[in-house]
Amino acid sequence: MSDTAKLELDGRTLELPVIVGTEGERALDIRELRNQTGCISYDESYGNTGSCQSAITFIDGDKGILRFRGIPIEELAEYSSFVETAYLIIYGHLPAQVQRQRFSALLTEYQTIHEDMKFHFEGFPSSAHPMAILSAMINAASCFIPELTRNYDPVAFERIAARLISQVRTLAAYAYRKSHGLPSIYPKRKYAYTQNFLHMMFSSPDEDYEIHPAVLKALDLIFLLHADHEQNCSTSTVRMVASSRANLFASAAAGVCALWGPLHGGANQAVIEMLKEIQETGDDGSRFLEKVKRKDGEHRAKLMGFGHRVYKSYDPRARIIKARCDEVLEQLGVHDPLVDIAKKLEETALRDPYFLERKLYPNVDFYSGLIMQAIGIPLDMFTVIFAIGRMPGWIANYKEVIEDPGGRIYRPRQIYQGRALNHYTPSDIRC
Ligand code: SDX
Repeated sequence: MSDTAKLELDGRTLELPVIVGTEGERALDIRELRNQTGCISYDESYGNTGSCQSAITFIDGDKGILRFRGIPIEELAEYSSFVETAYLIIYGHLPAQVQRQRFSALLTEYQTIHEDMKFHFEGFPSSAHPMAILSAMINAASCFIPELTRNYDPVAFERIAARLISQVRTLAAYAYRKSHGLPSIYPKRKYAYTQNFLHMMFSSPDEDYEIHPAVLKALDLIFLLHADHEQNCSTSTVRMVASSRANLFASAAAGVCALWGPLHGGANQAVIEMLKEIQETGDDGSRFLEKVKRKDGEHRAKLMGFGHRVYKSYDPRARIIKARCDEVLEQLGVHDPLVDIAKKLEETALRDPYFLERKLYPNVDFYSGLIMQAIGIPLDMFTVIFAIGRMPGWIANYKEVIEDPGGRIYRPRQIYQGRALNHYTPSDIRC
């Protein structure tokens, strides 16, 4: 294979180095393109553009491979936990026992938010979406961390990162309780990470929520499966903000906003809304799929939870969640007709040339909402759950950017297509 590519332009030949990744993926290094040719590259929505070289997550979209720091997602889902996987993603290796204990101790140490934060919650209307509250409150929480405003310090970073992972859970639970007019429930030191989240979400002041083992295991798996995913929209947003040397909490708050969109993390909520619409219209899914294929008007119906920019095969996370979905519902004695509709939709779509030709397969969001619904997570909290799960990935990517000695601010170029030079005209002679 060539280690350079040749570009012919205006009678000149430019040699572009080829960068090769651990798994053999290749990139044309165009960092000298503008200096050498005066041209920039153009790749709207960055479908063919690598913004960085990263050592955190590897995805092979054609083979449906996902690895965190080289470890297959299937093995982590089987043997690990969210907290252990968070440590792996942030620090690059599975923790030794003493490292695991220190990390857990830090998560416990920082689980409670400053009492004055509660005044911020009072300001939100009960109709506020928890994602709006979460993004705002992550930035509000940063106001109580003076070391955030100082220059990056790897030692302090360990505590700041643990604080963010721990408090995003507390803020999310408080946001849920506030938007449902319920009193906040404080975390308890005796509970582990995911247990504490369920406690803060569903306990009452006079009685702790009784956590079903299947619910705890399912939610911890959902957090784990969402923990990172290479340069997706929200992680790229976090890296963009980090590149300006903004602090970790500001970068994570920006990531929450990017994740909220229905084309990204908001899809898990949109999948349930789609399945409910199909159910309410008495459709077996076939009419809905015909509407998707017709591409009605500018508000084209999409098969939410299907398709992916990188996976052109089954999302390995969807495969794991689908298998666990049946198990969890059976253990909880829940029969959700939406699961049958989802399976029928998947079966029909994966036989339909429209979807196969476009390589549209279920992604992580297609079944995750069904498990979350089964374990009692409210619909408007689905994307918040995604944000809690993705926090280790955002932190690890932030760390890569901020620790890069040669790191520069992310500043894409553009091609201007606006009006040519023209001049100011006084208002009394404008038409
Ligand atoms: C996540 O990037 C990540 O890693 C994200 C994520 C993560 O962990 O961070 O994996 C999480 O965001 C998963 C994706 C969740 N979103 C959805 O499920 C929303 C529905 N999916 C689509 O909107 C879409 O598939 C995207 C946004 C996920 C990907 O969009 P692309 O890569 O820009 O694909 P495209 O829009 O160019 O589609 C190519 C073709 C088009 O058809 P034609 O115009 O060529 O005829 O496929 C069609 C699209 O219309 N298409 C769909 C479709 N997705 C793409 N048609 C119907 N239903 C869909 N879901």
